[in-house]
Amino acid sequence: MKLIHYWIAFWGIVLSASALADDPYQAFKRDPNAGTAFAYLHQVAIHPRCANCHGVVDEDGTFYPTVGEDRRPHPMDITVANNVVLFKDGDTFKQVDSVVLSCRGCHQNTNGDKEGMPPGNVSADMPGFVWHMPQPNMTIPKGISANALCNKWLDPAHNSSHLAQRGGRNDMTTFRKEFLEHHAKIDPLVAWGFNPGPGREKAPGTRADFIRAVEVWIDAGAPCPSE
Ligand code: HEC
Ligand code: HEC
Repeated sequence: MKLIHYWIAFWGIVLSASALADDPYQAFKRDPNAGTAFAYLHQVAIHPRCANCHGVVDEDGTFYPTVGEDRRPHPMDITVANNVVLFKDGDTFKQVDSVVLSCRGCHQNTNGDKEGMPPGNVSADMPGFVWHMPQPNMTIPKGISANALCNKWLDPAHNSSHLAQRGGRNDMTTFRKEFLEHHAKIDPLVAWGFNPGPGREKAPGTRADFIRAVEVWIDAGAPCPSE
């Protein structure tokens, strides 16, 4: 091999090593601790597979889901007016009757088998918890910092919904139970992010590593990054 080839190979290795160092998932895999864990959770949450369904509130207050890698508005002017509204009956989630075309009119229990078809997922662990969007204060805005996301998740006023009181920095026992045992481990919509059907990029890493990162972060007391 000529010297120039060694030279190119050397810089190739240096470049790929620095690309790995910048990837939060790889950093968490190499050295799992509360800091790398939350950086990875942030990387997952801002990915379109998670952020699309959490939606966008535009200037005139309309709240709607987005689709695709570029997070464009959902086709057919779908907004929160089309949302499935759930309530809890024991351990089962039931739907408030709705007359409008709801998410369930298109989003079934499994992913459509061709590109462009509506995705879907359910889980026997959360019966009746079907495809729907959360409340508007749970949006994951483009460019949200890890610090802001962390504080949002730990704010008991912000992260609790009519379905679940998730606790927060004032009640870490409830937070652990809801965030780790429910949301990370058995929620079919979070699970879907890692198995999103044909033509969509999955959320970074794996579902098992996502669950592990939530655990590492919470077990360390759920510290927030400085930025
Ligand atoms: C199909 C829609 C959908 C998708 C996809 C989805 N979510 Fe959610 N998410 C929801 C709903 C609905 C709630 C509110 C549940 C409730 O009311 O208890 C929620 C709540 C949350 C919460 C707690 C609320 C908060 O902001 O404090 C977190 C964290 C969360 N989701 C993370 C994720 C992550 C991470 C992914 C991707 C791996 C994801 N979600 C994908 C619908 C979705
Ligand atoms: C009339 C049918 C229809 C209705 C009703 C509908 N959707 Fe969709 N949805 C689709 C189709 C089709 C796609 C796939 C679009 C694509 O991949 O380009 C889609 C894709 C999505 C995605 C994008 C997944 C991704 O990451 O790219 C989200 C999120 C979503 N829908 C949420 C909702 C929510 C929440 C509701 C109810 C408020 C809803 N949809 C109502 C047909 C529908």
